[in-house]
Amino acid sequence: MEKELRLRPIGIIRSPYRKPGGTPVQPAFGGDVQGEVEIFDEYANALDDIEGFERIWLIFWLHRARPHRLRVIPYRDTVEHGLFATRAPSRPNPIGLSVVRLIGREGNRLLVESLDILDGTPLLDIKPYVPKIDAHTGSKAGWFDAGRDARKVADKRFHQAEAIRVKKDEVVLRLGVRGCIETTARHVRLKLADALMKAEAQNPDGEGAVELLTAFLEQTDFKAVRASDEELAGQHEATVRIYKKTDGGVDWLKI
Ligand SMILES: C[S@@+](CC[C@H](N)C(=O)[O-])C[C@H]1O[C@@H](n2cnc3c(N)ncnc32)[C@H](O)[C@@H]1O
Repeated sequence: MEKELRLRPIGIIRSPYRKPGGTPVQPAFGGDVQGEVEIFDEYANALDDIEGFERIWLIFWLHRARPHRLRVIPYRDTVEHGLFATRAPSRPNPIGLSVVRLIGREGNRLLVESLDILDGTPLLDIKPYVPKIDAHTGSKAGWFDAGRDARKVADKRFHQAEAIRVKKDEVVLRLGVRGCIETTARHVRLKLADALMKAEAQNPDGEGAVELLTAFLEQTDFKAVRASDEELAGQHEATVRIYKKTDGGVDWLKI
């Protein structure tokens, strides 16, 4: 069997949710909040006839989830369960599955309602929701039926942190995210995100993360230097400066 499969996003999901904390844990708790699904031009014709469906399945890559654990306390419970008995976003293959209401289509864009998806999430597939096939009302739902936690929005438990831009030449890295450092240059962002992911995979708890990141960046065109020793308590947070290496030395990376 192949060890790796290659997936290609077919579009991108736009939503008002920028941070995991506070985002609905399932579309059922998403109310009438709207978002947009943008399909890349090459797939636009594949949307024909989608308008006839009131709801659609979105299948997406949970690109900002932290590495998985095999047992987790899911959002809607207070005790641990095997990961595959939950809908937790941190998974070996972080694939998300959400049924959303389809409000309308404009060319390659779908207006949708009731989301539990972060802005910028890569979209892998769309399928129509067909009640006669998909709905099995009254089916047993394990621990969920016990109703121990009625939480409707996420907290940070599966997203230890994120990388955010704070100044033109400084980023705050909160390790634990498969995220991106916002930059204007896409290739730069991708390279840094890749380095972050590798650093994180080696050390999910974040300890020594800046050193790991620095080492990984050494293999790229970039270099990270710790700018401040001030670790923010409990946040695994440290400020680093990112440089772009050049033949003659290092340049500040314009971000
Ligand atoms: C519990 S998951 C469920 C997702 C989907 N409905 C499913 O069952 O596969 C929903 C939570 O995942 C998080 N989330 C949404 N989009 C994400 C992304 N692109 N990367 C990481 N986490 C994401 C948000 O915190 C949201 O509240």
